[in-house]
Amino acid sequence: MNDDGLRLLLSRDGWALLESLPPYDEDHALGLSTALRDRGLDPALVSAAMTQSRLRARATTKFGEFARTMLFTQDGLEQATRLTVAARHAKRYADAGATHVADLGCGIGGDAMALAGMGLRVLAVEQDEATAACATLNLGALPSARVVHGDALAVDLTAEGVDAVYADPGRRDGTGRRIFDPEACSPPLGAVLALRTEIPALGVKVAPGIPHSALPADTHAQWVSAAGAVVEAGLWFGALAPEGPGRSALLVGPAGANTMTGTSAPDAPPVPAPQGPLEAYLFEPDGAVIRAGLVDQVCGEVGGHLIDSSIAYVTAPHLVTTPFATAFRVVDRLPFGLKRLRAYLRQRDVGRVTIKKRGTAVEPDVLRRQLDLRGSSETTLVLTRVAGSQTVLVVEPTA
Ligand SMILES: C[S@@+](CC[C@H](N)C(=O)[O-])C[C@H]1O[C@@H](n2cnc3c(N)ncnc32)[C@H](O)[C@@H]1O
Repeated sequence: MNDDGLRLLLSRDGWALLESLPPYDEDHALGLSTALRDRGLDPALVSAAMTQSRLRARATTKFGEFARTMLFTQDGLEQATRLTVAARHAKRYADAGATHVADLGCGIGGDAMALAGMGLRVLAVEQDEATAACATLNLGALPSARVVHGDALAVDLTAEGVDAVYADPGRRDGTGRRIFDPEACSPPLGAVLALRTEIPALGVKVAPGIPHSALPADTHAQWVSAAGAVVEAGLWFGALAPEGPGRSALLVGPAGANTMTGTSAPDAPPVPAPQGPLEAYLFEPDGAVIRAGLVDQVCGEVGGHLIDSSIAYVTAPHLVTTPFATAFRVVDRLPFGLKRLRAYLRQRDVGRVTIKKRGTAVEPDVLRRQLDLRGSSETTLVLTRVAGSQTVLVVEPTA
């Protein structure tokens, strides 16, 4: 959605058209667009309304029912924090006693909505005009939020009376490609981190791939997974980090949230986990736990050890239920080899395989094609290394 598209939508006719559209359905989108144009509506307006309708439909995974009345740009939606996670951010600010938060680079307003929804005053700054227009509309029902179109780094935080800062630097270049270098993000990570000399209560969202060695010694770094996928790392400073400097993993799911906190300094290497023989159960730690370097703690929780010193699969003799890892019963173990695996699966009438992999270059889709299975049953394979040897584990989910 570009500036022109948004401008059209924000006109009286544009808004009326958007509000009149039925729930988005990809199969009927083309027919609906044609019908609207045939009724004499401006093709540019129809295109803008249909694009927005599609973005709103996609946004329900992040914003639930709120998405139906929000405005998005494509980049803004892709980079927005989902509400379940933004609510956890906002709680940190409320718990720290913050009253007025500057959200520097607020995007379409995902985090700002959660902060203002907690009753905090929010100064939401966004430099992209179309994105700032979206944030203005999305925050319209929250009177404690104010959106400013401008450069976040030019804001005089002290003069604004801000007592806490949140920043989620943009990680896309002008063509929409992802940026991995935190200093190439906008604003650059170093410039954001420098703000804590002025406002110590600082929170910054960074990409989950940030290496531990790049973390400031005074941060509490928390990797977050939502519904099993790692979505971010948050760097928390000052009163926003009551845990103190270190690393943790936060797992947000439909049944609530679970946190695992480590004991090392944020920039220290992970505590090495023990290694040992394959046992009756295999545990796949959540991605946030792995990124936070806390696999040794999963070993402790399930009474197990790694199957290979460099691979984050844990094995243990007994089934232990933990929110921090998915457990499988080990049914069989084969040395990796296409012919042997194909024969094994055909003998057991397997037609469908779920393939998990770690520590191997094998591509699941390629392997699936090579196996060419036709049977009627289904199984789960784990392609990995066990004590250095390429191995296939045949496993069964335990839940
Ligand atoms: C990752 S998005 C923020 C997403 C937001 N937290 C949310 O949940 O919707 C980053 C935003 O920062 C904006 N931005 C980048 N540099 C900026 C700057 N110097 N001043 C203001 N905004 C900036 C980008 O335009 C982008 O919309």
